[in-house]
Amino acid sequence: MTVHIGAKKGDIAEAVLLPGDPLRAKYIAENFLENAVCYNEVRGMLGFTGLYKGQRVSVQGTGMGIPSAGIYIHELINEFGATDLVRVGTCGAIQNDVKVRDVIVAQAACTDSAINRNAYPGIDYAPIGSFELIKKAYEVGTDQGLHIRVGNVFSSDVFYSDGLDTLKLLGKLGVLAVEMETAVLYTLAAKFGVRGLSILTVSDHVMTGEQTTSQERQTTFNQMIEVALDTVLK
Ligand code: ADE
Repeated sequence: MTVHIGAKKGDIAEAVLLPGDPLRAKYIAENFLENAVCYNEVRGMLGFTGLYKGQRVSVQGTGMGIPSAGIYIHELINEFGATDLVRVGTCGAIQNDVKVRDVIVAQAACTDSAINRNAYPGIDYAPIGSFELIKKAYEVGTDQGLHIRVGNVFSSDVFYSDGLDTLKLLGKLGVLAVEMETAVLYTLAAKFGVRGLSILTVSDHVMTGEQTTSQERQTTFNQMIEVALDTVLK
């Protein structure tokens, strides 16, 4: 058991899907995994382990934002032996040619968080995803007929920001979308020598205000989960 995850060693698979919302973890376990067992209820941050196509896979809620996600990711890697960690989340598009319902595979993540600035003074560390998992997710998603975008995302500490200037600037630098967790996943995966990947469905367009309906969100979410699960299959 760790401070935040009430599981025993061995309860959690090497491959772990990471939705922000713990109820999404429950939904994934109930709809995609066989024989799923709940191993964590601490703080309501549900975690489950079950079978997908015969392979053990876990799914663990992380909460929102870098500090919360960082706690779960750190403990999953260091205390429970997770080696393949795949965030499955949503993001807001900041490019004209990125559309709601698109699926983004995050190649890298820039951030306004000070985590790495504080830890590695004088260096602008570039958190990047596992090339192996990025390549596989792209191929799996494309085979499933999805419009997969691969590129840079922005992991922001602020959901309700004061202005769009920063996002416009990042858009000009080719950043595809804004979300709130990928930078810490990629940093911790690199730090501890494991594989990290972030797959995101575009739930809203920050510049146009367009949003997906809840039905559309559910459909693209299900497609993304299938991509994530097939990506972590050995
Ligand atoms: N996740 C989904 N949409 C988002 C947005 N607009 N900003 C930050 N995180 C998000």
